[in-house]
Amino acid sequence: MITDRIKNKELLKCIGTPNDAAELIKDGMTVGTSGFTFSGYPKSVPIALAKRVKDGEKIKINLYTGASVGDELDGELARVGAIKKRFPYQTHKDVRNSINAGKIEYVDAHLSMSPQMVDYGFMGKIDVAIVEAVGITEEGYIIPTTSVGNAPTYVKNADIVIVEINETQPTSLIGTHDIYIPEKPPFRQPIPIIHAADRIGTDYIVADPKKIKCIVFSDIKDNIRTVAPISETSRKMAGNLIDFLENEVKQGRLPENLLPLQSGVGSVANAVLAGLKESRFTNLQVFTEVAQDSVFNLMDEGKISVASATSVSFSEEGQKKFYEKIDEYRKKLILRPQEISNNPEVIRRLGVIAMNTAIEADIYGNVNSSQIMGSRMMNGIGGSGDFTRSSYISIFTTESIAKNGAISSIVPMVPHCDHSEHDVDVIVTEQGVADLRGLSPKEKAKVIIENCSHPYYRPFLKDYFKRASQGKNIHTPVLLNEALSWHERFEKTGSMKIKTDKSNSEE
Ligand code: COA
Repeated sequence: MITDRIKNKELLKCIGTPNDAAELIKDGMTVGTSGFTFSGYPKSVPIALAKRVKDGEKIKINLYTGASVGDELDGELARVGAIKKRFPYQTHKDVRNSINAGKIEYVDAHLSMSPQMVDYGFMGKIDVAIVEAVGITEEGYIIPTTSVGNAPTYVKNADIVIVEINETQPTSLIGTHDIYIPEKPPFRQPIPIIHAADRIGTDYIVADPKKIKCIVFSDIKDNIRTVAPISETSRKMAGNLIDFLENEVKQGRLPENLLPLQSGVGSVANAVLAGLKESRFTNLQVFTEVAQDSVFNLMDEGKISVASATSVSFSEEGQKKFYEKIDEYRKKLILRPQEISNNPEVIRRLGVIAMNTAIEADIYGNVNSSQIMGSRMMNGIGGSGDFTRSSYISIFTTESIAKNGAISSIVPMVPHCDHSEHDVDVIVTEQGVADLRGLSPKEKAKVIIENCSHPYYRPFLKDYFKRASQGKNIHTPVLLNEALSWHERFEKTGSMKIKTDKSNSEE
């Protein structure tokens, strides 16, 4: 029944089609949408908007979301060239290609800061907010679906609001959300989260019902994630990381049940969480950005007592199980705005253990998370900076080599730095662990090269470091004319491997 989903009688008058809603969006507008990963983003309205462009209308919008979103939004609009500016994170190949080809201007921002950038007026005016919803309350407030992301801030700031009620999203999701928007300075108060499980807000997004101009119904499911089987290398990295955590407990630097865990998404993150299943840790807490299958599997095992995130993102099987067991999971799952799930104040207070993936790291511990060869955008910084900078311990994992060994992921100097040596505590590769805490740059270089680099590249890194250390200023020894030569060589020859004088052939 429609009235089960829309409880506010006045708003029943706003029901329209996706085309009606798309008509509200004009060329040059800034559109802020719900959605974070392949979850909780509007689907039928952007498809209708893309169709208008396919039919010959000239429309280019600034598209602001929570983070990456599914094909119905990013893919549809990028393929018809309807995105002028994109903010604050993306992973879609069509968007990425357009960014790298200079067709989309991309503002890559820390995810916790993106809502306040909007709220402070730094990102211009929000013309339209589109929110995927489970339903609308009697007061006209909006209940989000599988992610919260930046939806509360876009609704607050937009001139008009479109609500896309997704009937594949069950009303049993109600009660998982916890919506809280901090005041602007100078009125901002401390965020009262003392434990990962604390609820501090409402389970709906407060909206002025007069701003809601169109409500559409959709039955397009969230995209699902294809989770690659855990590789041997990922398993080794996960094993190294868990050994490290176990030793921290032994040394008395972490409690028996650790501290709240944040983990990025992807194969290594998956392997780490799978590894925790076999570990002796219990009663774990998760304070992260995205809760994926592995988090719920660990809940089923009784290993995780609470998970705080801004989004849930699943494989097909995981999605099915989530909806089947939602009544059980609701007691342990809290979906917050990304301003709160990734909030540095809260992360620092809780002592979150941050575990993210690097594209590459240099011998001093600077990390590149976003730009291949220094200028080719991969995804963006995402929440990695939010967590890394404020965590109790910040850990980065990366395989020591990429592209079958043509690339060393430990390099003399990163050509783009997202996380500086001041923020990176531990680097883990399949070769081992470099614990950088309390080390000077020269000490860091020795331990990173020795413990983390691939045996093929290790002698070349040692040689570089030795020669750099013979210079005049040797606090952080660098050979300026050589530091980026490994990347330059890769761009020219397709490999970082060095041709030695002896063999004159690639080693
Ligand atoms: N140099 C160049 N390319 C490299 C590389 C290196 N050192 N290391 C990996 N790559 C390439 C891979 O070959 C792959 O290329 P392909 O797409 O052509 O196959 C690509 O980068 C992705 O590598 P992959 O190993 O599949 O990475 P992933 O899925 O584990 O993701 C990041 C790694 C860094 C891209 C991803 O974690 C990310 O976007 N991080 C930033 C945001 C973030 O941390 N979010 C979580 C915070 S809560």
